[in-house]
Amino acid sequence: MSKAWTKSGWRSKERIQMPTYPDAAALNAVEARLSSYPPLVFAGEARQLRAKLAEVSRGDAFLLQGGDCAESFSEFNADLIRDTYKVMLQMAVVLTYGAKVPVVKIGRVAGQFAKPRSADMETVDGVELPSYRGDIINELDFTAASRIPNPKKMLTAYTQSAASLNLIRAFSMGGFADIARVHEWNQGFAKSAGTTDKYSQMADRISDALDFMEAAGVDSDNTSSLHTVNFYTSHEALLLEYEEALCRMDSTSGLPVAGSGHMLWIGDRTRQPDGAHVEFASGVQNPIGLKCGPTITNDDLMKLIDKLNPDNEAGRLTLIARFGAGNVGDHLPRLVKAVQAEGRNVVWTCDPMHGNTIKSSSGYKTRTFDSILREVREFFGVHAAEGTVPGGVHFEMTGKDVTECTGGVRAVSDEDLSSRYHTACDPRLNASQSLELAFLVAEALQQRRDEKRKAG
Ligand code: PEP
Ligand code: CO
Repeated sequence: MSKAWTKSGWRSKERIQMPTYPDAAALNAVEARLSSYPPLVFAGEARQLRAKLAEVSRGDAFLLQGGDCAESFSEFNADLIRDTYKVMLQMAVVLTYGAKVPVVKIGRVAGQFAKPRSADMETVDGVELPSYRGDIINELDFTAASRIPNPKKMLTAYTQSAASLNLIRAFSMGGFADIARVHEWNQGFAKSAGTTDKYSQMADRISDALDFMEAAGVDSDNTSSLHTVNFYTSHEALLLEYEEALCRMDSTSGLPVAGSGHMLWIGDRTRQPDGAHVEFASGVQNPIGLKCGPTITNDDLMKLIDKLNPDNEAGRLTLIARFGAGNVGDHLPRLVKAVQAEGRNVVWTCDPMHGNTIKSSSGYKTRTFDSILREVREFFGVHAAEGTVPGGVHFEMTGKDVTECTGGVRAVSDEDLSSRYHTACDPRLNASQSLELAFLVAEALQQRRDEKRKAG
């Protein structure tokens, strides 16, 4: 971390994908207010997450990151938070069983409001307006007024994030996350109509493992890790005025910490080594994610690693590979080799969503279950070949029964997309598709473990 870093240093770098607020006085007033508010997370938690991600980098834990593409102000309610949280817990139990290591759970939640866009303008029926950039910036409605960036939305995002995080903390500590309950929900899914035998067989094996533990005297009453969980928050650190205003000096370490969430990531569009986003992220002590898409060069990646993790600390930097099914083999091996050759400590995780977005015949932006699964398998394949650690998975998902991605055992077809297509941005896996993926990834993890064991 360079000594010269300041929380406003990003302002002298090139800024892209951020709005120009027409009312500077209103912006300044919001920044001043946010700067006086309490941070949403505590620096000690960010450090704890870094330590857990260090375990992920060594293969001693597995990362599950998931949630909405974009959180929304209008769809904010307890059920929505609970349902996504619940599915993530269910997935984590299945993945723990497959990987036989703890699963680190990070939501795309409590701050995931700002979206990078491929085009600055959107045209509908010959009318051109600025693009929607997420509820923290402007509004989805296609009217000129809705698309004007309004800084006051940052205050709503802060309040909503605080309330979401509060509920998540309550669920995590208050008994909702009890492993026996979570497993019961999984059995419900695995044995429901339409799923395949192999899911119910895996669920039965998990039941056996839990029964064995209970017989051996390990249960929720005497073991807190069976009824409480650590659940962390993350979002793309895109709107730097918001991030700067919530940046705090940590009194324990004397280092800056982003108070807006536990982990921040840099998007594939804003990862210029000399750009504003990398500059901001380089100075906060939170764990940082970096999206790596097909256009990233080996050189850029090494520059970014130098800038974001100069001390080569395990757990500081998570590389989120998102190449698209069929493209992983063209990019991931060269990047993994470059990182290995320089002995850099990173977490490798797979986002099989953003390289697999297509337009369906019915006109909806969608992703197929098969391409998502295929990219995860390709990611595992490359790490097996390189002898490196496939650290985790990153999904856009919701606990609701939406129809945004096609496929899965309860097959969603192109024609079904219109029935419950609710996303504010990219298409998400629904609860059933998310769980099914967890079962399939767990199966792959288990096979990998069996092969390693056989090899000796
Ligand atoms: C996202 O995670 O929603 C996103 C926009 O990803 P990427 O930067 O990888 O395109
Ligand atoms: Co997205």
